[in-house]
Amino acid sequence: MKVYSPDDKVKITLKVNGNVHEVEVEPRKLLVHVLRDLGYKSVRVGCDTSHCGACTVIMNGRSVKSCTVLAVEADGAEILTLEGLAKDGKLHPLQEAFWENHALQCGYCTSGMILQAYWLLKENPNPTEEEIREGISGNLCRCTGYQNIVAAIKAASQKMRNG
Ligand code: FES
Ligand code: FES
Repeated sequence: MKVYSPDDKVKITLKVNGNVHEVEVEPRKLLVHVLRDLGYKSVRVGCDTSHCGACTVIMNGRSVKSCTVLAVEADGAEILTLEGLAKDGKLHPLQEAFWENHALQCGYCTSGMILQAYWLLKENPNPTEEEIREGISGNLCRCTGYQNIVAAIKAASQKMRNG
């Protein structure tokens, strides 16, 4: 394992939503901060305890809390943030379902919640309510009471299965 000193600058490459970025980072810098510095402001910091999930992104096909990943660990990774979910100006079915089911209020948790749901539906395209609740249990929402979020994910799973 490589040992860095705090003053080192390390060149890393990230592919975010299909865009390749080469950046120099301090070895202690967290992925969430690098993504925000690159302009991906949907990736949010909501805590300093790794509990809230507001920083959730998809990294190499898996959901991760980007506040728990050092940017140097993500070197060469493919990352999806909420900015990359809509295609050709059309919202992703999960985004539509969150809108239609009033699954947000302040919206602070929403990008992380949607990406966690995106990963959940990739793993399990037809989850039960219980599986949805378990799947998003690492993402906190202080506003909605979760009921409409669960309904939105259920609706999106149906939409996605019907193509
Ligand atoms: Fe709260 Fe990452 S910022 S889990
Ligand atoms: Fe406000 Fe979830 S909508 S924290």
